[in-house]
Amino acid sequence: MSAKRTLLAFVISTILFAACGKLIPTDGRIDIIPLPGKVTSNEGHFVLKSSTKIIPTFEAEGMQNALAFWNDVMLDVLGQELIVEPGAKSQSGNITIVQDGTLGAEAYRLKIDKSGMQIAASTAGGVFYAFQTLRQMLPTAAFTEAGGRIEIPACEIEDAPHFEYRGFMFDMGRHIFSVQEVKDMIDILAMHKINKFHWHLTEDQGWRIEIKKYPKLTEIGSIRKSSPIGKNKGQDGKPYGGFFTQEEVRDVVKYAAERFITVIPEIEIPGHSVAALASYPELGCTGEQYEVATWWGVDDRVICPGKELAFTFWEDVLTEVMELFPSEYIHIGGDECPKTYWKKCPDCQARMRREGLKNEEELQAYVTKRVEKFLNEHGRKIIGWDEILQGGVTKSATVMAWRGPQYGIEAAKLGNHVIMSPKTNCYLDYYQSRDVKNEPFSIGGYVPVEQAYALDPYKELNSEEQKYVLGVQGNLWTEYISKYDHAMYMTLPRMSAIAEVGWSYPNKNYESFLERLPHLSDLFDVYGYNYAKHVLPEKQNPVAEADAEQK
Ligand code: ACM
Ligand code: ZN
Repeated sequence: MSAKRTLLAFVISTILFAACGKLIPTDGRIDIIPLPGKVTSNEGHFVLKSSTKIIPTFEAEGMQNALAFWNDVMLDVLGQELIVEPGAKSQSGNITIVQDGTLGAEAYRLKIDKSGMQIAASTAGGVFYAFQTLRQMLPTAAFTEAGGRIEIPACEIEDAPHFEYRGFMFDMGRHIFSVQEVKDMIDILAMHKINKFHWHLTEDQGWRIEIKKYPKLTEIGSIRKSSPIGKNKGQDGKPYGGFFTQEEVRDVVKYAAERFITVIPEIEIPGHSVAALASYPELGCTGEQYEVATWWGVDDRVICPGKELAFTFWEDVLTEVMELFPSEYIHIGGDECPKTYWKKCPDCQARMRREGLKNEEELQAYVTKRVEKFLNEHGRKIIGWDEILQGGVTKSATVMAWRGPQYGIEAAKLGNHVIMSPKTNCYLDYYQSRDVKNEPFSIGGYVPVEQAYALDPYKELNSEEQKYVLGVQGNLWTEYISKYDHAMYMTLPRMSAIAEVGWSYPNKNYESFLERLPHLSDLFDVYGYNYAKHVLPEKQNPVAEADAEQK
């Protein structure tokens, strides 16, 4: 719990003592993001209070986590947790959780009337998402005013995600964020029913994960001696660095799992590897000693696949990565790998001759396939950026389209699984307004909320090809984002838009999204999240902003 929330809980519980029982009315609106499949509003409401019990009638892996989430919310709004009583007979006035095996793994049904609430799901994940929806149904005043009884509008909701993969990528290479900030971002994702956290952990400018067998990756590779000023205009001359210990990684993976989010690590192979080369120069084509990169951009200096040592390195690193991350998918990068050095390198050229590879694109495909085979043998699957299509790709590789939707379309037509995260819609580091003078300095580009929302993951695909689209992802690269407040500002509410594409497709409607967003943004205020207000005119009002500050 953040300090702000701890204080809020304390204030509320203190005031509760004096003003026990004040009713917080509902405004009757059901504004949920992402949009649920079906919402039927009914007359009346349920009154949630501290004597309300939670009655789970089945056990499932993770159920404690779903209940803990709800009781954390209850601490905020009621100043105390609800009693969980699995064996309770009377369901009247309580929250009952029942199993319905006919529902999908993440689906739920919610039925609320004056006599109680019922959540139906087949797994704890479905229960967790029902509670996420329920949190958005609490009147905002429940979080900001002391009250002992809270109205929730009577309704029936049937809900299930359209896409199984709903992701967000956070770049730690250019700037690193603290474990607490990563966890805070995971909370934001959970609020949006996002279920994949793609953690970009290695870059030219910094290696961010402890690997026991290669200690220099963090001793040397995690620190750059300087960072660019502005858009590569100069250097600040200040050392910058940091990395996550394996213990911290485990902590983040567990925290995410408790929120039904899988952490997918990305280890960049074979490009974006200058920090690794600075640590172990023998992995490069020339063996030259480099420094960890101090400039943004695409670097020619990549790992040498002509040398067997490179594969030993990748396999060793991935072995430790697999021990840390239970995720079925491991992201192996593959983007922006210039072939300049490989063309001149005797080892690379000898490898190409031995393997009968026609060009350097095929040499990269050889790397991808060999690394994929290694991971497959250990029960894992790969995701790679869309450049893995060049030089030929195996059918079992999942392609993450970033350069444009056409690469995702190409992959789906080939029969490869695809995650759509084209920069045209999903790059959260791009400007969100044309009025760039009034925006924090950014890498460029232009992805307003409407454009993020406009993503159509099935564009140009027939029904057979559509089956290969696993889902969507928003990407937050951090060349120009060094503070967590700024990271949130770039993420919200564009990630809210992408989350709705992933969950609610094809029932999405931008006008309806804009009508529901103010309510979600109230929740952002409650939790102290920083967010962009371009499509929230009421929040641009300085009075409203001052109000939000008070919360
Ligand atoms: C990328 O933006 N280089 C994946
Ligand atoms: Zn080489």
